[in-house]
Amino acid sequence: MCGIIGYIGDKEKKKIIIEGLRELEYRGYDSAGISVFSDNELHSFKTTGKLINLEKKCENFSSSGFGLAIGHTRWATHGKATEINAHPHSAEFSNIVHNGIIENYAILKKDLEKKGHIFLSQTDTEVVVHLFEENLLHLKDSTLAFKETIKALKGSYAILLITKKENDKIFYAKNGSPLIIGTDGSDIYFASSSTPLIGLVKDVCYLEDGEVGYMDKNNFKSLKNIIPLSGTKISSQKDGYRYFMEKEIYEQHKVLQDTISSRILEDKIELNLPKDFLKDINSITICACGTSYHAGLSAKYIFEREAKIKTDAIIASEFRYSNPIMRKDELFIVISQSGETADTLEALKLANKNGLKTLAVCNVENSSMVREAKYSLLTRAGIEKGVASTKAYATQVMLLWILGIYIAEIKQSISKENIKKQIKNMNEAIKATMINPKIHDRLKKLSKRYLHGHGFFFIGRDIFYPLALEGALKLKEISYLHAEGYPGGEMKHGPIALADSELFTISLMPKHLLFDKIKSNTEELASRDATICAISQEIIDIADDMVLIDKFDSYMEEFFAMMIVLQILALEVAIRLGNDVDMPRNLAKSVTVE
Ligand code: F6R
Repeated sequence: MCGIIGYIGDKEKKKIIIEGLRELEYRGYDSAGISVFSDNELHSFKTTGKLINLEKKCENFSSSGFGLAIGHTRWATHGKATEINAHPHSAEFSNIVHNGIIENYAILKKDLEKKGHIFLSQTDTEVVVHLFEENLLHLKDSTLAFKETIKALKGSYAILLITKKENDKIFYAKNGSPLIIGTDGSDIYFASSSTPLIGLVKDVCYLEDGEVGYMDKNNFKSLKNIIPLSGTKISSQKDGYRYFMEKEIYEQHKVLQDTISSRILEDKIELNLPKDFLKDINSITICACGTSYHAGLSAKYIFEREAKIKTDAIIASEFRYSNPIMRKDELFIVISQSGETADTLEALKLANKNGLKTLAVCNVENSSMVREAKYSLLTRAGIEKGVASTKAYATQVMLLWILGIYIAEIKQSISKENIKKQIKNMNEAIKATMINPKIHDRLKKLSKRYLHGHGFFFIGRDIFYPLALEGALKLKEISYLHAEGYPGGEMKHGPIALADSELFTISLMPKHLLFDKIKSNTEELASRDATICAISQEIIDIADDMVLIDKFDSYMEEFFAMMIVLQILALEVAIRLGNDVDMPRNLAKSVTVE
């Protein structure tokens, strides 16, 4: 999604902004731009497409000495992905970059047009820079004018503004979209996520909603909550893999080890979560979006089965506006890779407002959700660059499984033997994510048979139903083929009407969970001529194609082994179709608008 970088200092500003934007590239964007203010001149460059186009466009530009710079990668919301709609937007003497959505932009725009302002783009953002200049006309003071401008905005925003009227300041405002300010002790850096700042700055301030002001080289210390920025720059190499997504699929057994490390002991689970916090809860609500929602839906099965606690998993955008009933004895869990997804974050704020016990299961330390929730558990997947989530999902499911057993232990709904068994299964499940090259080869070959047809059904039962949803999502995200996930038992209630030989059914058939049931459901489809690809450790006679996984003793091992198969299947189909696997069309890594 949109990314912001800003800089105040003496270094080569163009280079700093473009390198910063490159760190955000994996998040998805369709145009990019940069403005540099030096020697009393504002220099702006914008292009559609990738950063390489922007680099080419400003290759002959350089600036030396002190100056200000802002840059942006845009994921279109208001107006198409054109050069005019790309940020920074300008009025007469000021430039702005913005993440988020200004909901009342149309009214503001009308008003400004009446006052003679002329707009070039279709964006909501352009209104803000014009409003600033209009306010400055009356107020004669840039800081007052900026604050007055921000006061008039409804919606979500992270904003940086530079103006020829102030040659040493960048104005900033934050509401709902993340914005970080950092310093190396001398220069000032801004970014919409911490990734570009790692290695550049020592201290950072994660701005809170409602913060608005300006920054120059001398007032960093006036910010609240300054903390050191930890972390080391991760390798941005693909390490011989064709795509980051492939590398991340192969990394899963490693990051899963990190997820369980110091959390599972031989016969007990230790989480950095006070037992008192969980003791009196009587129900759990899980809120998330996309893949993280699928992990949440898997957790519902685990929490109810092992901890015997009523659990609902709800898509965050649906939760927010449904006037949800919230009880004080309810544990409210949000799940998010980025910790910034707007709908999930707002759902979390709602739960906090209603006094629920809140917990974030998240991959990004210091993200908005981690800071907002009462407690948090980090999934430890490392930075995930592929837009289609793989290793983040695996670690979410594992951590939620651990949490389920932890709650079960606190609630005394699980025997000591079962805890031991679950822990053993967790360790075995991690082994099940080690990729057998024969299975990858098999999927590579198989993928050529699944490039046409009129769609895919992914079916599974129980916890394999959310896995089926996830398999379908992975395929559609990167292959652009139509795919749906269904509970196996639901097919005969309508969807089976679509069955014919051009309808591909990927059936998840674990030996250790409802095997006979899913077998019957698969047979129902096979007898209507659907093409069946079964994933199982048992040979399935009725299947047209089979992906045989290794022999496992528990269904959770089968779950993780099948997860790998589904991820690789999606990857290989997308590669054959010639798609950009890491940056699929229309998608963004972190969805910070609702
Ligand atoms: C799919 C995918 C998305 C995200 C969703 C939520 O591969 O990555 O569906 O899961 O946008 O994002 P997070 O987990 O960052 O809240």
